[in-house]
Amino acid sequence: MNKTTNRLVIVFVFAVLGVLCLAPCDCFGGQKSGNRKVDKKSFGKLADGTNIELYTLTNARGVQADITNFGATLVALRVPDRAGKIADVVLGYDDVQGYATDEFYIGSIQGRYANRIAGGRFTLGGVEYKLAQNNNGNHLHGGVRGFNKVVWQEVNSQPTNAASLSLVYVSRDGEEGYPGNLKVTVTYTLTDDDALKIDYQASTDKETVLNLTNHAYFNLAGAGNILNHELKLYANRFTPTDATSIPTGELRSVKGTPLDFSRLTSIGARINSDDEQMRFAAGYDHNFVLDKKGGNLAIAAEVYEPTTGRVMSVSTTEPGLQFYSGNFLKEVKGKAGKIYDRRDGFCLEAQHFPDSPNKPKFPSTVLKPGATYTQTTIYKFTTR
Ligand code: GLA
Repeated sequence: MNKTTNRLVIVFVFAVLGVLCLAPCDCFGGQKSGNRKVDKKSFGKLADGTNIELYTLTNARGVQADITNFGATLVALRVPDRAGKIADVVLGYDDVQGYATDEFYIGSIQGRYANRIAGGRFTLGGVEYKLAQNNNGNHLHGGVRGFNKVVWQEVNSQPTNAASLSLVYVSRDGEEGYPGNLKVTVTYTLTDDDALKIDYQASTDKETVLNLTNHAYFNLAGAGNILNHELKLYANRFTPTDATSIPTGELRSVKGTPLDFSRLTSIGARINSDDEQMRFAAGYDHNFVLDKKGGNLAIAAEVYEPTTGRVMSVSTTEPGLQFYSGNFLKEVKGKAGKIYDRRDGFCLEAQHFPDSPNKPKFPSTVLKPGATYTQTTIYKFTTR
């Protein structure tokens, strides 16, 4: 072969490779990677006049996530079913007013301590800290004005390898009774394989306790109740609680209980069982001890919705996963005129165990100055 023929062969090989690389993008919804973007629009004003934003992350395949900087909240998540039909698979409100008055923690970030602290008290470095008792004498989801009710600042919303948005909140020393100025960054990333990744990072200037999670309510059918959704949890144990949902400290096997989701089982199959744990929580509202070892990212749960074929898998670096079957939802005026009632959505909240500040045997939730808190949780969508 002479030089010209060589060049022609090289050009031809590269052209074929180029077509092969682009082809998969064209197969899914007709959008190319060039369509990846982050849009921003007004989500309304708070009572004090503060403007609140709504960001829309779009991935290369056209899947979208709406996020507001009020409570760093996931507002909508539009994903295809097995026929390619898009539906919004999370509960939410049409504007910021809905979130400002929300009592169900819909879609938002919980902090400084997600879930419960017994009696709203804990001791750290010999000092007793008193927190709001906003749930049956216990402290829940960070108190009266938790991270779900504050305005976060956008730091970066540029699509690079994926559409992503970072939001920052600085919680001052003494806020809601917690010690230390704490800086928290939450980054939502919508990847081109239809995964919503949530990365958390935090640091403090004084020893504190910290437990962050996202409280999205999912409904993979986009409507109706969630009782026919099938769930698998990668957890052989859970943390049983007392009647006020405070863990007893025991790590109990799920074997032989309605909490055994080691095989894909419909959420509704045993939800009304006459079991003490189920009665205490009025359904599922329990922290599962994930089988994974250490702080590595590993699969925690899978959910399958039979009518639409949507599948959601949850992976996390956290040791626990709170499965909540939406037992307290009641006549909630949601998005686009929808009313959410009992069990119309479920939460899978990746977190440390409830009441860890008072349970020395649970994995520690103490954050020291100089250390960095990190967490990654991924909700990935496919169909079958
Ligand atoms: C968590 C709690 C529940 C409930 C919901 C919000 O899942 O464990 O008991 O408070 O949040 O209603």
